[in-house]
Amino acid sequence: MARADLAGGRAALALMWALAVALAALAPGRVWAQPADAAAVAARPEIVGGRVVTETRFRNLYPWTVALLYSGAGWRQVCGATLIGPDWLLTAAHCVTGTVAEDWRALVGTRWLSRGGERFAATEIVIHPDYNRRTEDSDIALIHLERPVPGAVPVAPATLAESDLHARAGTRGTVLGWGATQSGGRGTVVLHEAQVPVVGLATCRRMHARRGQITDNMLCAGYREGGVDTCQGDSGGPLVVRGDGGRWLQVGVTSFGWGCARPRNPGVYTRVGRFQPWIAGQILERSH
Ligand code: ARG
Repeated sequence: MARADLAGGRAALALMWALAVALAALAPGRVWAQPADAAAVAARPEIVGGRVVTETRFRNLYPWTVALLYSGAGWRQVCGATLIGPDWLLTAAHCVTGTVAEDWRALVGTRWLSRGGERFAATEIVIHPDYNRRTEDSDIALIHLERPVPGAVPVAPATLAESDLHARAGTRGTVLGWGATQSGGRGTVVLHEAQVPVVGLATCRRMHARRGQITDNMLCAGYREGGVDTCQGDSGGPLVVRGDGGRWLQVGVTSFGWGCARPRNPGVYTRVGRFQPWIAGQILERSH
């Protein structure tokens, strides 16, 4: 007991120290990287370390990005999703587990949470049967909408072959969401985007604080030095890459992390390619 307490005390001290260091790093004026990396940091489009999605970019590039509004939060946005068919959304299982379809509305066709777009009620939630709340394995779910979105422009969930080809380690992916712009911060009213490189699973497991939790059904993306990441409220949203002919492929669903944008702790995404047959099967089976 005493030993454990002592260890606990030391852990608490270490934690306070880590916090102090983290806070110092966050202090205004302080840059994330050392001068050698400054150019690389500046070259990144300013989620954490991201930038606002302009109206043009939303309409031309990301019209399939959807906000999920939850009744239990006064119909505020709590997660992201993507339109993968006229009346089907892809999201994270952890967003919708323990809820019913009536609890959700999809806000479609706007980058603003405060104006524009159209709301669609959800009529069905399909959580992957292997989803594990404790480990976050198979963190993927589908939402059926009450009716097709008029003029819907869906994004294609990547097949395994496509993600092997187009989402190799080092590929730059784009993440999108209305989540917090820093660890412990608040969400944003306008959609943000950021670019993060895909990190190989072996590399990710070597450095990540949650290494023991990272299965082959997951995909890591982020910079070794941190600074750019998804964060709370981005869950369920997409990690996309450019496939053949420049069309967008969704290779990841935002799932979890260790804080946000910390060095050596890339964001963890559900590896969509692994679930693409399941997705296609469910949609086929349930659309009649
Ligand atoms: N689980 C979070 C959510 O519910 C998403 C966290 C992503 N975190 C990260 N560091 N990439 O919104």
